[in-house]
Amino acid sequence: MNLWSYPLAMLRRLRTHWTLWRAGPQVHAGQDLHLGARCRLWAPQRLVFGQAVYVGKDVHIECNAEIGDFALIADRVALVGRQDHDFRVCGVPMRFTPQISPTMVAMPASVDPDTNVVRIGSDVWLGFGCLVLTGVRIGRGAIVAAGAVVAADVAPYDIVAGNPARQIGRRFESESVIAEHERRIRLGDFRLSERGDAHWTVRPGA
Ligand SMILES: CC(C)(COP(=O)(O)OP(=O)(O)OC[C@H]1O[C@@H](n2cnc3c(N)ncnc32)[C@H](O)[C@@H]1OP(=O)(O)O)[C@@H](O)C(=O)NCCC(=O)NCCS
Repeated sequence: MNLWSYPLAMLRRLRTHWTLWRAGPQVHAGQDLHLGARCRLWAPQRLVFGQAVYVGKDVHIECNAEIGDFALIADRVALVGRQDHDFRVCGVPMRFTPQISPTMVAMPASVDPDTNVVRIGSDVWLGFGCLVLTGVRIGRGAIVAAGAVVAADVAPYDIVAGNPARQIGRRFESESVIAEHERRIRLGDFRLSERGDAHWTVRPGA
């Protein structure tokens, strides 16, 4: 038995709680959230993590976002605000444009509150170093390839890659396999441990 796994798990949990505490009350975490080292979380209004979400190292989430259960976010992913700077104000140089910042009390009028959020479904994989802009909805079960830039919605179970991200495939070959995948997840038992994957429970429903 690896006794180091206990203190390491405690340190990982402490890091997650510390990062959440620093991020402030706009950030809501589901059960068993993992936040990797040097993550930066900031949301002008609301950032919500579902259950058992994994967030890798050096991830920047700097916008409103909803992240579904069992999402896997690789290292160096960024979720950022498409409308962070009000660049259409005539006569104001870019450096001085109204911006979304931690100290502002109201959004600029140009920012549409409905599109000022990234929505990521459950069971999604965001690959290493990809970037997702606000206004985008990534359907459940989808995969975003490493290094992609996602500027438009991604359909459930699509695999997208490139800049701008385009569909390169489907995660499963048919709708019936998708239905079976979702049924097994619904009936299954999935539990994480910060002690490592040797201590996880992964039992798809029969
Ligand atoms: C997307 C991914 C899952 C592969 O999916 P796949 O369906 O098996 O895709 P394939 O490898 O068959 O590639 C299909 C096409 O997409 C291209 N492609 C694959 N990954 C790509 C990427 N990241 N960026 C651009 N194009 C990519 C391939 O070159 C291929 O192009 P072609 O048809 O012109 O030859 C994989 O490439 C990827 O990006 N994984 C993420 C890895 C990661 O982030 N790991 C971190 C640990 S969490």
